[in-house]
Amino acid sequence: MKVETILCMNTGDGESSYANNSLVQELATRRVLPILRYAIKGIANQDILFKDECFKIADMGCSSGKNTLLVVSSIIDIVYEMYTKNNREAPAFQVCLNDLYGNDFNHLFKLMPDFYAKIRKGKKENFGPCFVSAVPGSFYTRLFPEQSLHIVYSSYSVQWLSQVPQGLGENKLNLYITKTSPPKVIQAYQQQFHWDFTTFLKMRSKEIVPGGKMVLAFPARSINDPTSDDCCSLWELLAQSLLDMAKKGLVQQSDIMSFNMPFYYPCEGEVRKLIKNQGSFSLDKLNVFQVNWDPYDTDYTSIKDSSESSYIHGKNAARIIRAVAEPFLKSHFGSSMIKELFEKYEEHLAKHLVNKKTRHFTIAISMTKKVNNIDIVGLCDLECDMASAD
Ligand SMILES: C[S@@+](CC[C@H](N)C(=O)[O-])C[C@H]1O[C@@H](n2cnc3c(N)ncnc32)[C@H](O)[C@@H]1O
Repeated sequence: MKVETILCMNTGDGESSYANNSLVQELATRRVLPILRYAIKGIANQDILFKDECFKIADMGCSSGKNTLLVVSSIIDIVYEMYTKNNREAPAFQVCLNDLYGNDFNHLFKLMPDFYAKIRKGKKENFGPCFVSAVPGSFYTRLFPEQSLHIVYSSYSVQWLSQVPQGLGENKLNLYITKTSPPKVIQAYQQQFHWDFTTFLKMRSKEIVPGGKMVLAFPARSINDPTSDDCCSLWELLAQSLLDMAKKGLVQQSDIMSFNMPFYYPCEGEVRKLIKNQGSFSLDKLNVFQVNWDPYDTDYTSIKDSSESSYIHGKNAARIIRAVAEPFLKSHFGSSMIKELFEKYEEHLAKHLVNKKTRHFTIAISMTKKVNNIDIVGLCDLECDMASAD
């Protein structure tokens, strides 16, 4: 099943909206900002930054909410700073916000006046202009002209697959990989991710200028084992909540059997290998970090929650997952049981956190588009060697 016409995050700015329940992704984005700075500095060092009069940025899987504009305004600030430092006239900016067709672009557009005011703040009269546009479509296809982008950013999006993998019939009542999933199921998920991630790299390699950058952050797993708790537990607990619904007659067991989530949490080794095998980008930096399931919980020392706090943490963690998974769940199970499903989920999450404080694990990477398929870092070394030989 293709997901591009079904998938979206909860729209609007209501209680269950993605816009109001994306603190996990915001915290991840804040951790990625130093990597973005590093990447843009890299472009400046290659002089690519100063070649064109318009600096072109794309955010792939931007969704709707302030995370999108936080990233874009940070990129603009850093680029502007690099130009000023180098005594150059600031460029125009073109910002392309990509997501699937069901994304709430209208909500994003309403945030534009504040965004335009924010990016102008503290800058000289000659700043800009900045042209923002929406680019609806799947990032597993071509979305931009050849060699037209200077930097591509994507956060918490490339884990979403282009389709639910085929051959998951034996995954029984599970929604994703679990310790009981047969190897066939794990392979199906892995193959789909490998195909999709490679396609994503191929598409972007055509669209990014040589020497341009791509910065990606996505949920992942901390160890090689694809049944690792940090990628599976959240979804095992959601599967248990669906089974509770089935026991009450609110969901058919057969509907759970035929349902699987279209995402995959890779490990570091897999990501490194896929980038190397695809061949268009050189990997400059790879960082990993964790965010608590309840992003309002700032305790990173405990390995369990106390029973009093676990109730709150369960509630907050469930809201984050609901904002992301509700439309996809509704498309399969209908909407009547959603509220009760997530109440059950809060309980399961709270119980889990009393015993074990599992966290979201994130991989953040910065890559450079190779020049004529040659590693640009290698190319610079060569130029330096030739200069010193002269
Ligand atoms: C969890 S949200 C992340 C949003 C935002 N980048 C952030 O960090 O808050 C993931 C987004 O990726 C989008 N997405 C998933 N698959 C996609 C695809 N193939 N093409 C474009 N967008 C996609 C989803 O629609 C969703 O809006």
